[in-house]
Amino acid sequence: MRHDHLITSKQLSRADIETVLDRAAEIDADPSTVADRHANTLLGLLFFEPSTRTKMSFEAAMKRLGGDVVDMGSVESSSVKKGETLADTVRVIEGYADALVLRHPKQGAATMASEFVDVPLLNAGDGAGHHPTQTLLDLYTIRENAGLDDLTIGIMGDLKYGRTVHSLAYALTNFDAHQHFISPESLQLPREVVYDLHQAGDGAQVREHDSLEEVLPSLDVLYMTRIQRERFPDENEYQKVAGEYQIDLETLEVASDELTIMHPLPRVDEIAPSIDETEHAAYFEQAHNGVPVRMALLDLLLSETGGERDE
Ligand code: CP
Repeated sequence: MRHDHLITSKQLSRADIETVLDRAAEIDADPSTVADRHANTLLGLLFFEPSTRTKMSFEAAMKRLGGDVVDMGSVESSSVKKGETLADTVRVIEGYADALVLRHPKQGAATMASEFVDVPLLNAGDGAGHHPTQTLLDLYTIRENAGLDDLTIGIMGDLKYGRTVHSLAYALTNFDAHQHFISPESLQLPREVVYDLHQAGDGAQVREHDSLEEVLPSLDVLYMTRIQRERFPDENEYQKVAGEYQIDLETLEVASDELTIMHPLPRVDEIAPSIDETEHAAYFEQAHNGVPVRMALLDLLLSETGGERDE
């Protein structure tokens, strides 16, 4: 695998994905094998939007590889507050780090920023656009729990603004996956994404629904998402759909015993806490998988051999 920047999951072939997931499994089995592998390497963290999992798991990953991070900190405490442009900010911080991780509220920001830097830039979420490193840990979790081929997955909630959904949907076209998208009409997948998915697959593998009921019994994985309140231009529109598409133990009465429930987190009220202790719940495991998967990705991107390990 050799990419200068990782902006969208559309860049990733099945072989790329399997390379990262296989490396993550090796690291997960014995992290001590890579403890000093990237000593003296610095990862630049530029988060223009809140984050817990992505930022902290990238930091943990870099440190567990023997490296460290330089963190721009909050927008409020940085010179972004004085009006510095994103282009200038990334051009400065690439001089302090060997790779950059960028989260930004504007869709397309990572693409634009990547045009100004020579070090690898990883998109950690650009508005309602893409979140490809989340997709890699999602795929790792799916592979561990349900397998990636002959997969039937339901993806439910805010499919319009949910960037993890967009990235996951594109990546799943590399596999034999039947994708069911469940949402209110106002939060359906963007039409261009649906078009792309139909072009990428055989068409029969993508279906849209407004109710979970009809598809739940057939699902191997149910991927829940939060309604992205911060992306709605009008609070009244958010209130119309807030609280829709929640699941609890009663919902799961018709589900397979083997159903795996995932969520990129944070959740608000989509998944009742009573589900947390069931065998279905994989969302905390999913969040924890962010560390070995991001270690694998960083290792592959930062290795001088472009992924061919020299140990
Ligand atoms: N899943 C995810 O992107 O979480 P954070 O917003 O906490 O990084």
